[in-house]
Amino acid sequence: MKSKPNSDQARVSRRELLGGTLAGAGIAWSAAGQLSAAAPQAGEHSSVVGMRFEARDTVRMGLIGCGGRGSGVLRDFLGVENLTVTAVCDLDREKALKAQASAERAGQKPPAVYSGGDHEFEKLLRRDDLDFAYIATPWHWHVPMAVAAMESGKHAFVEVPAATTLEDCWKLVNTSEKTRRHCIMLENCCYGYTELMVLNMVKDGLFGDLLYGEGAYLHDLRRTLFEDRSEGLWRRFPHTLRNGNLYPTHGLGPVANYMGINRGDRFDYLVSMSTPSKGLDAWREAHVPKDSPKWKEKYICGDLNKSLIKTANGLMVTLQHDVVNPIPYDRINLIAGVKGIFRDYPPRIYFDDPKEEKYTTIDAYKDKYEHPLWKRQGELARKLGGHGGMDFLMVYRLVDCMRKGLVPDMDVYDAAAWSAPGPLSEASLAQGSAPVKFPDFTRGRWREKRGWLD
Ligand SMILES: NC(=O)c1ccc[n+]([C@@H]2O[C@H](COP(=O)([O-])OP(=O)(O)OC[C@H]3O[C@@H](n4cnc5c(N)ncnc54)[C@H](O)[C@@H]3O)[C@@H](O)[C@H]2O)c1
Repeated sequence: MKSKPNSDQARVSRRELLGGTLAGAGIAWSAAGQLSAAAPQAGEHSSVVGMRFEARDTVRMGLIGCGGRGSGVLRDFLGVENLTVTAVCDLDREKALKAQASAERAGQKPPAVYSGGDHEFEKLLRRDDLDFAYIATPWHWHVPMAVAAMESGKHAFVEVPAATTLEDCWKLVNTSEKTRRHCIMLENCCYGYTELMVLNMVKDGLFGDLLYGEGAYLHDLRRTLFEDRSEGLWRRFPHTLRNGNLYPTHGLGPVANYMGINRGDRFDYLVSMSTPSKGLDAWREAHVPKDSPKWKEKYICGDLNKSLIKTANGLMVTLQHDVVNPIPYDRINLIAGVKGIFRDYPPRIYFDDPKEEKYTTIDAYKDKYEHPLWKRQGELARKLGGHGGMDFLMVYRLVDCMRKGLVPDMDVYDAAAWSAPGPLSEASLAQGSAPVKFPDFTRGRWREKRGWLD
């Protein structure tokens, strides 16, 4: 395929991508030579912990970013009743028009199209007939777009990771509190069949007191990263700028839910290590013509990153990231306690058993522990939805919460806490794997036990 100019990459500067990862992120050297998080800022505005949506019959959506993810999740949204797509926006007019056509095919009035410039999304956000914006753009656009959405009175539903610096995590928290709008990171893996079932088992005490969990994003993206389309236009670039876990939330979200993070516990500190950076160089050597501008790039992100996270209650999480080596897809998705252990890929479970020390499948537990969401909507989710149905269930649940005026399953504090291992792993690595503190984005409210995903 002929190489197109990489417009997105050209637009994003090193400063934007790093965004003040260290100095600007509210972290500083302590006397012991370790990074410590700035003390929780006294929030100017009150917390959005437990904040309900305002109830409404129909939910009106604006889509920003109609690429691979945005157009896919749009199909899920279009499968939900009482949802109207009011407007769509993409830099690329063709993609915006395709999204418009997709809404029309689903029987909707054609949504308005915004296209042609980096800041056209601001015009979409100025409309007064939108309840939320779904933001599915490259990472460096998430925070400016989510902040603009909340400041224009819309809830912001943003793709993963919500933010790539601690400063930006705080920006999302502060803006959500100030505007009283939700900022929800659409971490779809929290809605997987197995994840929700295991969460039910954890809540029922099957694993006893929890001790540790493990999450990962192990996904061979080498071909995608070098393509001259879609994510290949922007997602390789952070590998030239950052060394750490670039994509922490798919693995971490479900484990955080098992552990009740921000609902009785919180992530306290993290240490991180990485292997050398080799995978992208090896792929380029084998597949990229020598006259390609891609040969000017220098990859600095260690291929496999592993971080250990300690929670305030003493639990431990291992988090991994590797997208540049041959490895079968795996999020590990492990939770263990004093009575048993579950691990995924493939799903298997073991409870204290004096007769046979062997994992079994989870089949025997399905009847009792299948999550009510999957019981009610599973068939439709599997038929319509991306990623085995989890995407549909996530958006179905979101719209349902909005219509009924409920508290959402995930809030801005989760978006910040699950995204923070990105910049924190960078900070730890930059100091020889020193421990670095998580900020308490909830400003103390993590101690409150409250229901989630019930
Ligand atoms: N949750 C998941 O399972 C999952 C899966 C894939 C991607 N993602 C996330 O979704 C996001 C998008 O990824 P993708 O795979 O769709 O990438 P993509 O490159 O296919 O799509 C991004 C789109 O954003 C548009 N865009 C860029 N800047 C814009 C601007 N200023 N205004 C309007 N449109 C703009 C681009 O033209 C493009 O169409 C990323 O954050 C990614 O991490 C999540």
